[in-house]
Amino acid sequence: MLIRPPKRKANILFQLTGSIACYKACGVISKLVQGGCDVKTVVTANALNFIGKSTLEGLTHRPVYMDTFEDRSALEHVELTKWMDLAITCPATANAMNKMAAGVADDFVTTLFLAWDQKKPWLVAPAMNRSMWAHPATRRSVKTLGEWGVKILGTGKGYQACGDVGEGRLLEPEEIHKEIMKAL
Ligand SMILES: Cc1cc2nc3c(=O)[nH]c(=O)nc-3n(C[C@H](O)[C@H](O)[C@H](O)COP(=O)(O)O)c2cc1C
Repeated sequence: MLIRPPKRKANILFQLTGSIACYKACGVISKLVQGGCDVKTVVTANALNFIGKSTLEGLTHRPVYMDTFEDRSALEHVELTKWMDLAITCPATANAMNKMAAGVADDFVTTLFLAWDQKKPWLVAPAMNRSMWAHPATRRSVKTLGEWGVKILGTGKGYQACGDVGEGRLLEPEEIHKEIMKAL
């Protein structure tokens, strides 16, 4: 009988930004961990208005990264981009996407993006109100990030937390998980 050696676990850098859809991202993280992936989470300060560090630590069994200058090892932003097999920003706010597309690196999430080794896949799962999604700044950022090789996932259409109905909803966790597996 042929016994296949176990596949190496994929290292996933999972970034969460300040969207109401952070709770949906937890479903994706849980599926990845259950599938044997090693997941390290990075959050913006605003993401912590929507989700607690303890939830992410509990799901990943790993500390949560937020502060570029935290007293871990220096140059962690470079080490993490070397460690990862794939990164995903999920949910990605309009603000985060527009900063990434402008090359701004003023927090850990955007600093990691600028330190990205572009041979590895980077996915972005947008989540925002329909007007933010349609704004010319966001449209331009989607185009720019795509030209740089970032895989921008689609968005869902429907009821939004603000009461609007339209484009910009985060995809469902199963769909995002499928996209990650495809990209790996
Ligand atoms: C209740 C609430 C929900 C929000 N949801 C979103 C969202 O889904 N997408 C988005 O782009 N911004 C959303 N925002 C606005 C962002 O949190 C805000 O632009 C913030 O500056 C984003 O910071 P970050 O990108 O550094 O995480 C929301 C704000 C509030 C108060």
